[in-house]
Amino acid sequence: MNRLYLLPPHLSGMELELVKEAFSTNWIAPLGPMVDAFEAEICAFTGARHAVAVSSGTAALHLSLMLLGVSRGDEVICPSFTFAGSAFPIRYLDAVPVFVDSEASSWNMDPALLDEAIHDRIGRGALPKAIIVVHLYGQCANLDAIMEIGARYGIPIVEDAAESLGARHRGRQSGSLAPLGVLSFNGNKIITTSGGGMLLCHSGETADRGKFLATQAREPVPWYEHRAIGFNYRMSNLLAAVGRGQLKSIEERVERRRAIFNRYEQLLAPVPGLSFTADPPWSRSNRWLTCIRIAPHSGVTPEEIRLALESENIESRPLWKPMHLQPIFEVCPSYINGTSEMLFREGLCLPSGSSLTDADLERVVDIITHTMTNRKKHA
Ligand SMILES: Cc1ncc(COP(=O)(O)O)c(C=O)c1O
Repeated sequence: MNRLYLLPPHLSGMELELVKEAFSTNWIAPLGPMVDAFEAEICAFTGARHAVAVSSGTAALHLSLMLLGVSRGDEVICPSFTFAGSAFPIRYLDAVPVFVDSEASSWNMDPALLDEAIHDRIGRGALPKAIIVVHLYGQCANLDAIMEIGARYGIPIVEDAAESLGARHRGRQSGSLAPLGVLSFNGNKIITTSGGGMLLCHSGETADRGKFLATQAREPVPWYEHRAIGFNYRMSNLLAAVGRGQLKSIEERVERRRAIFNRYEQLLAPVPGLSFTADPPWSRSNRWLTCIRIAPHSGVTPEEIRLALESENIESRPLWKPMHLQPIFEVCPSYINGTSEMLFREGLCLPSGSSLTDADLERVVDIITHTMTNRKKHA
């Protein structure tokens, strides 16, 4: 049987026409009209005022921290419960990540702990230079509370919406709510350019500076003149064509993923020991990934379920391992309440791509149910 992947790319069928158009007009080189159009369409969809298409979400985060003036020795607050791509750009700038744990309701940064962490950092002589907020697995963080804290201390916020395109926070699209936001079009994201990202911002001046840094910091003169260190981070015109084709199906993709989550929940929530996390009141998740929790008292571990699925050629994956537990970040200051460690211990991500069929979903459900009940019988 073919392997069932966690998040395979899902073509809309509209990509190839746009790629052909890029070829037929010889716009395959970096930048070009597809990039401009993709940026404009992402702005129209998210409500962001400006967008800069780049080579990855990680590059967009790196740019956003540079645009905020983060430099050597500065502290930047980042959730512990996230993918390392949220935290690595802090280290690219020789700045120091300060990790803050999650709240149970949204799995994202805990505002009360954030407040406590900032207060403590100030007491130690350092006002954090920026706060990175992540909408993990497509579920929106408690942005109102976090933005209020940022405003109170005068700390700017970057929204890492790499996983949450199409998710809404109080009705507004994620990624466009803070002054700086970041999207990813990596192969496993809700829409993909095979690899790519986007910087979203409120200010035209910031967007222009972002474009300048992302195009090798080339001064606007006929020869190559450089007064700053630049990066080769812009998206190619060809990949922007793929992105435009993908974006046309974003609403359908969100609805399908939400339906997948709901169906898993309907079939698996009655199984003793399995649970799902509801959207908090401010969030309408894009359900990028369906995640379950397996309670320790069930007598079954997430790893046993993962191996049972794997033996049927089905991919599943533990939740993100928290950053404060990563060897590379273990010396960084961390404010921990146990939530991310519990989620890492008890969680499992299930196949959730928008191309997943109902029959395949039911096959996943059967294997999980069988593993849970069989284990119980033998316990
Ligand atoms: C939360 C989060 N932040 C940042 C990134 C980095 O994006 P990219 O892979 O496009 O560099 C990713 C995903 O890959 C992510 O899931």
